[in-house]
Amino acid sequence: MNKLIVSLLLTVGISGFAHAAGDAAAGQAKAAVCGACHGPDGNSMAPNFPKLAGQGERYLTKQLHDIKSGKRTVLEMTGLLTNLSDQDLADIAAYFASQKGSVGAADPKIVARGEALFRGGNLAKGLPACTGCHSPNGAGNAAAGFPHLGGQHAQYIAKQLTDFRKEEGGRNNDGDTMTMQTIAKRLSDEDIAAVSSYIQGLH
Ligand code: HEC
Ligand code: HEC
Repeated sequence: MNKLIVSLLLTVGISGFAHAAGDAAAGQAKAAVCGACHGPDGNSMAPNFPKLAGQGERYLTKQLHDIKSGKRTVLEMTGLLTNLSDQDLADIAAYFASQKGSVGAADPKIVARGEALFRGGNLAKGLPACTGCHSPNGAGNAAAGFPHLGGQHAQYIAKQLTDFRKEEGGRNNDGDTMTMQTIAKRLSDEDIAAVSSYIQGLH
């Protein structure tokens, strides 16, 4: 295993995030306003709105806290989380985590390149395989807070990878170890298009 993977695995694993236990039933009512964009059960129809159904509870809770505090910018959600308590966020995360995520289709023209990258990384570029953290079927690792990716809209995935790659004004809420920022900076535009398409069809 190369050094980058080892250090990333070690450091990501121990940067914990404490949160209250969520109540999925209570979360369903609190999530009503979210359905307009993310779909009532968290399976959004629009490719720029991420699917939340089946996403790990710990990852969802972290994102909600980051979006609420402004650590992660989501203009579309401005003000929406302001009046929600930590318990509300935990309940909403539990609700979406309990739903079943839908799957899309990969573009046959670029799926092979995407699969090779997802499963094997790229030794020459020092890129670890995505499977190491996001698992071979894209389910992630809910307990560790590694997000579920399989079936997610390709357009949303590509935007995240592009945002992680930006020096400024992008997405930088991946912790002190900057796991995803480090990885994304080693991806070309073609890599991003291919791996995002592969992920959309992955289950
Ligand atoms: C007006 C549309 C809209 C509404 C309403 C909305 N969101 Fe979002 N949400 C977005 C968009 C767009 C993104 C992705 C932004 C980006 O590209 O980074 C997002 C991202 C997220 C993410 C991060 C997902 C991930 O995979 O990292 C979570 C969690 C989330 N929203 C939860 C909620 C919750 C809970 C509510 C209701 C309280 C809500 N959203 C309401 C548009 C919306
Ligand atoms: C060492 C572990 C690790 C590896 C390897 C890894 N990731 Fe990640 N990834 C993470 C973590 C942790 C997050 C969540 C960051 C946060 O908390 O905001 C993440 C987040 C993401 C997201 C954002 C998901 C969302 O819903 O917004 C995408 C997309 C992603 N990774 C794609 C990839 C791809 C593609 C690869 C392979 C080229 C990869 N990752 C390799 C740990 C990893």
